[in-house]
Parts: sequence; structure tokens; C-alpha cells
Amino acid sequence: MGERREPAAGEKPLATLVVTGIHACLTMAHGDPGPAAGADQEEVALLPDAALAARGKELVYVGPANRMPEAVRVAKDAVRVDAGGGVVLPGFVDCHTHLVFAGWRATEFAQRIAGASYQQILAAGGGILSTVAATRAATEEELTERAQRRLERMICCGTTTVEAKSGYGLSLADEAKILRVVRRLDGIGPWDVVPTLLGAHALPAEFADDRDGYIALVEEMIETLADRAAFVDVFCEVGAFTSRECRKVLEAGRKAGLGVKLHADQLSDSGGATLAAELGANSADHLDFVSVEGMAALAEAGVIGVMLPSVPLYVGARRQAPAARLQSAGVPLALATDFNPGTSPIDSMGVIVALACLQMRMSPAAALVAATRNAAYAVGQGETLGSLQAGMQADLQVYAIDDYAELPYRFGQVLPSVVIKAGRVVAEEGEFVA
Ligand code: NIG
Ligand code: FE
Repeated sequence: MGERREPAAGEKPLATLVVTGIHACLTMAHGDPGPAAGADQEEVALLPDAALAARGKELVYVGPANRMPEAVRVAKDAVRVDAGGGVVLPGFVDCHTHLVFAGWRATEFAQRIAGASYQQILAAGGGILSTVAATRAATEEELTERAQRRLERMICCGTTTVEAKSGYGLSLADEAKILRVVRRLDGIGPWDVVPTLLGAHALPAEFADDRDGYIALVEEMIETLADRAAFVDVFCEVGAFTSRECRKVLEAGRKAGLGVKLHADQLSDSGGATLAAELGANSADHLDFVSVEGMAALAEAGVIGVMLPSVPLYVGARRQAPAARLQSAGVPLALATDFNPGTSPIDSMGVIVALACLQMRMSPAAALVAATRNAAYAVGQGETLGSLQAGMQADLQVYAIDDYAELPYRFGQVLPSVVIKAGRVVAEEGEFVA
């Protein structure tokens, strides 16, 4: 190996943001690109005594603190963040939410505690359908305003990218309205919002006797709205849509150029995982009742399993997704809040990481990989988000803790001291500052 040439000053990138004082930087950057699976899912790629630098939105240095001067010049007016000997990790990617809706469902929460099941409430016209009524009645401005406040809270909890599904409109006009809100949200704050079309979320009352008619309408939604979404999603479940109906919708979405996602095997083994594998879906989400064959099919097809550990807690389910078995079968796992007014009014990925550890026995390392790197791949953005290395977007969070395991251990009670999105400080000590 020849002698290392010191780059001339002019060749060094000019950093506009530097983060120093990092005791442990969880880069999540190891091995080949792609979601981490199996034993690799346990690897946070920890860099001790690290520093980071960004130029504009992009990371230009992630490495040992004492080497940074060789690698970058720091602009005079650069923003300097001192991590104070804490832990740094990529911003959380919340890869499954129903962000845009009107009205909470606290009444239903009480009914479920008293013994009513999620499906009984839906069959009686409540549940998703009550949120559909409230969301249809709300204006675009009201929906935007509410969702914007939710995104601000999420940012303060360390989430820098959020997938947002439609699915509380269930008519062409109302699904279009929700997707317009999602697009507006993407432009009015520092966050990235990834839009998903979930027309097949529930059968609306006006189609109660015409299932085929509604599936045809969802196909029309896809044709009309595909350019406003990145993914198509379905609720494949007894009481929602059959696997035959879901296949039709997802194939139409795929044909229109959308990535494929499914609510699969949430309340029963409804064949969702095998369908996801067959269609080459980006992700199969929930999987509480996934079969052994379903797990093997997901692993074989490289479909990401999105774990949503708050949902069984809220619906009083008997089962959690078998995260350990999925992981050892080789399914890459991601985590998300499933933020929605029915099954998960939780907006903090920190809480979700804690639940994944406590309820699903995921290791803190595997859960954090799931909430960052793998979640970024679940929304098709793993090439730029979810890990910390030069060339990636500078989305990161700083915690005043000694050991990253303190995050799940202290159950969502530790908020990031600083959150950086695309190279800018956007939250400090739980305050939104962008
Ligand atoms: O992911 N399961 C279907 N959809 C949501 C719940 C939506 C609702 O209850 O409003 C979920 O759990
Ligand atoms: Fe969901």
C-alpha cells in the first residue's frame, strides 16, 4: 500500500454541520446494502468516540473523532452540536402509519377493555368505519393541521421519516383528499412523508352488498391516484378483504408502478404472508398469526416483516408476531407505530422499540436496526436513509445516555436531546424547533 496522501485543503468537503462528543455512534452501516436479516440484524455497527459532519443535507464524514480534521473543513458558520458523551443513531423511520384522520376512538377503547372484540366493533359499523365518517366530514385544512401537529410530536421523539396511508376515505374523492393532505404535509415541515394508497382498508357501508363493485372502485382509485402514492396496501383479513380480493388490488397497484405492502395475518392466518411473497411485496405488516410456511415464503422472497408490537396490546390479542422465529427464518424485520385511532394511538418509535424488546423478546440491537435501517428499506429509501455513512442523508438523533440499551430499558421516557433532519437541527429536548 502506498503512502496515504493528505488531501489538499480544496478537496475536502466544507461541512455545514458537525456533531462531536459522541461516545457511541450506531451507524447501522455494515455488510452489503439491503435490509439486515438473521444474525446481521443484531449488528448496530457501533463506532466509539465518533464525529459526524454534513454538507447541506448529506453526510460527508462519519468516523473517529480524531480523524475528522483530515477529512473535512468546517465552515465558519457551521452548526456545531455537542453530543455530550452520548449516543447517536439514525433518525427513526416510522414505516407504517395511518397518520391522516379525524377523531380519536376512546369510546371503543373502553368497549374493548370491557370485552368487545375489534372485529365485532367493525362489523357493527364502528372501528375503521367511524373514523371514515369523521374523516370524510373533515376539511383538507383540518386534516392537514391535525396531522402536522402529530408529525411535530413524532420529530421530537426522533422520527424523521413517516409513511402515511390513506384508507379513511374509501371513496375516490375522499381517498384523493387524504393523499393531497399527505403531499401537503411533505412540503410544510422538515420531515419526509411517504404516501401509501390503502383503498382496500374496509368495505364502506354503501358497498355492503357489492364487494366486487368496491374492488372495482379501488382499481379505479389506483388508476387515478397512482402518481400521488409510492405504495399500494390492503387489509387482508377475515372481516376486511379476502386474499383473492387483495391479489386483484395489489396486482393493479404493481402494474401502476407502486410498491406493494399488506396488512397480513394480523388477527388470523389469512394467507397474507404467502401472498406478499408471491407478489414480491416490499413488506408484510403485522404477522401476528403468520404460519410456518408463510415465514419461509417471506424469507425466500426477501419481503420485510414489519412488526407492530403496540397493536396486540390495544386489541387485547392472544398473540404477538413471532419476531424471534421470523428473524431466525431469515426474514428482515422492521418496526413501526401503526399510529392510528383504533389499534395504536402511539406516536413514539421509542415506545415501540421498548415494546418490541419486552413483548416480542427482540434484542435492543435488533429492535434498533429494525426501527432505522430496515424500516428505511421497508419504504424503499434504504439507499439514502436509515444508516449513517458518508453519502447518506444526515438524519440522526442524539441521546444523553451511556448505553443504547437504556432506550428500550427506560420505555420511551428518554427523548432525544437533539434531532437532525437533512442536516438541520429540528428538535431539542422534546421541543420542535424547525
Ligand atoms: O393497522 N388493521 C387495519 N388497520 C389498522 C387499524 C385501523 C383502525 O382501526 O382505524 C391497523 O391496525
Ligand atoms: Fe395499519
